[in-house]
Amino acid sequence: MHLILGIETSCDDTCAALVTRDGAIRANVVASQGLLHERYGGVVPEIASRQHLEVLDSVVDDTLERAGVTLADVDEIAVTRGPGLIGALLVGVSAAKALAAAGRLPLVPVDHLHGHVTASMLGGDPIEPPYLVLVASGGHTFLARVDDPSEYRVLGETLDDAAGEAFDKGARLLGLGYPGGPEIDRLARDGDPVAFDFPRSLPGDGLDFSFSGLKTSLLYTVSKEGLTPFRKADLAASYQRAIVDVLLARLEQALEREGLERVALGGGVAANRELRHRAAALGAPVWVPPVELCTDNAAMIAGAARFGRALPYPEYLDLDAAARL
Ligand code: KG4
Ligand code: ZN
Repeated sequence: MHLILGIETSCDDTCAALVTRDGAIRANVVASQGLLHERYGGVVPEIASRQHLEVLDSVVDDTLERAGVTLADVDEIAVTRGPGLIGALLVGVSAAKALAAAGRLPLVPVDHLHGHVTASMLGGDPIEPPYLVLVASGGHTFLARVDDPSEYRVLGETLDDAAGEAFDKGARLLGLGYPGGPEIDRLARDGDPVAFDFPRSLPGDGLDFSFSGLKTSLLYTVSKEGLTPFRKADLAASYQRAIVDVLLARLEQALEREGLERVALGGGVAANRELRHRAAALGAPVWVPPVELCTDNAAMIAGAARFGRALPYPEYLDLDAAARL
């Protein structure tokens, strides 16, 4: 069976995974650096690169061991080429090139966002194109249509902050930890989502997003209302409601405009309980990957590589990482 070893180091998670040609996940390992960066309230690029360098070899070994295979059983290497933090990406790309070259294996450079777009094509019940996908993460928020699994066409995207960034910045204003999405998600369960009426921005006549006004509005509300524990839960619930409302409104518009019949969610924000729950009520079947395939992981990179172009040895030796693609 054809085995793809995926490597992902675009931000602050060191990830490796083994995926078969038909999309079965044999192992999926994530070494999260969350705690390392928490005290700074965000990802520190230099720390991220050094940590990737420190742990990537063990993460790959662990992945092989969990799948009960060795490097000799791997047929192809896939790696995130970008977008992301350049120093962090370089660690993954260099390691992938070395592993591939040592075994004379082909290497597939993967667009990190293509990984999020196709995460729902993994596993036992893969979504089939054509479909509409919402990718909402810490760095990106966009809607795209997928007609052919090797590509995606962006229909609308954020004009300022990403949805995950809105969660992270909101959490910071509420005195919560980093990353903020899971913290707001947790606190929102105890709050009233209609206690505060935050703005829902739907800019232009297209399918773009804007979240920067929402964050400012939270800032004003916090300084006016103060932060008692009781208020905090209401603020978290109302703030989350505003973000989810906007994501679902655009999803509905896109579904109608594009005439598509299937929807997939991807990216870290797709781990959000309210979004997952309410997306199920959209007028089309929705694929929501398990949380570990929503947040950054290498299974989605190996998965996307199935639809990418494999570079034969030694063509990839001069492959470079790219902060932007
Ligand atoms: O996809 P991801 O792991 O990394 C990027 O490519 O950015 O997404 C991370 C983002 C962070 O902003 C984090 O706060 C958000 O996803 N996130 C969530 C939840 N879990 C992670 N946002 C809302 N609710 C969650 N449960
Ligand atoms: Zn991501």
